[in-house]
Amino acid sequence: METVVSGIRPTGSLHLGNYFGALQNFVKMQNEHQCYFFIADYHSLTTHPTPHDLHGNVKQILVNYLAAGLDPEKCTLYLQSDVPEVVELYLFLNMNAYIGELERCTSFKDKIRAQPENINAGLLTYPTLMAADILLHRATKVPVGKDQEQHLEMTRTFGNRFNRLYNVDYFKEPQAFNFGENLTKIPGLNGSGKMGKSEGEGNAIFLADKPEDIRKKVMKAVTDGGPTVPNQEKPEAIQNLFQLMNVVSTPETVAFFNEKYNTCAIRYGDMKKQLAEDMINFTTPFREKIEDMLKNDEYLSKVVHQGKEKARESASKTIREVREIIGFKSF
Ligand code: TYM
Repeated sequence: METVVSGIRPTGSLHLGNYFGALQNFVKMQNEHQCYFFIADYHSLTTHPTPHDLHGNVKQILVNYLAAGLDPEKCTLYLQSDVPEVVELYLFLNMNAYIGELERCTSFKDKIRAQPENINAGLLTYPTLMAADILLHRATKVPVGKDQEQHLEMTRTFGNRFNRLYNVDYFKEPQAFNFGENLTKIPGLNGSGKMGKSEGEGNAIFLADKPEDIRKKVMKAVTDGGPTVPNQEKPEAIQNLFQLMNVVSTPETVAFFNEKYNTCAIRYGDMKKQLAEDMINFTTPFREKIEDMLKNDEYLSKVVHQGKEKARESASKTIREVREIIGFKSF
């Protein structure tokens, strides 16, 4: 049995990228492994949410997790901020994380471009907090999308460096995980890049989206004038539409539109209509459960308290051992 850890930042409802990149694997893994799944609310502070938004977004992710099928009896489901031990490990790891390697991290470079007015130290040390999340439970497997690969590499570096520094074999090497498949990157709707909440208006389809919103967003998705020669290579925007279709539509539907593309008979309007309907079919059961669950504060509170207890049990054991390794001794 593996120890599994993963988390998602609370930025509102989850989109199809989060689902296919990570959450669907959380749901599968909880049946076989010791799993810790959390809501990365400390991480979300790098963008300075208001107290109101922070709480609302955390609640959204919690109900998205539950609606997707995470079972608090099978896995440990908790809020990062309910487990203060992670902050202590973050501090320890920061002592051995070098400014140069943090500055070279791709997500840091992206962030300083995206929010030049708010380049805070939390952004720089984002990878050490993420490493602390993972090492806190001494995880071996981390279900994530492709964009988190470098953070996993850094987690291994920090864990190994700790082991070397103190001449121990304490932290195991966590690996990014996707059931024997390559890590995925689900594309967005605006022609290039990944699906993401901050990648532009209309780029992401959320599990909680209403059918009419999904139709609007998909119909606006970027396309081109269409193929002019048979079997022409697909440009990125078109490849992206097909990739989205691959995850929500039947193989027959994908084959049908591929054939149309290859014979230059494709009508993107028809393809988008079909894609929108398949996305609606896919997301509807999630949306209904999300709406239901949002009303059930009593249950949510029970889940959160139970998760906190279980997560702190494992976290406090690690912190006790790490303190001892570092040389903190009680008088
Ligand atoms: P976050 O909140 O940006 O995304 C959560 C998960 O969703 C995946 N994901 C995608 N996968 C495929 N295609 C996409 N378009 C797409 N967009 C998002 C991400 O890869 C991720 O798995 N730093 C993390 C949160 C985190 C974490 C951790 C994860 C904090 N501590 C410890 C694992 C372990 C993040 O910002 O993910």
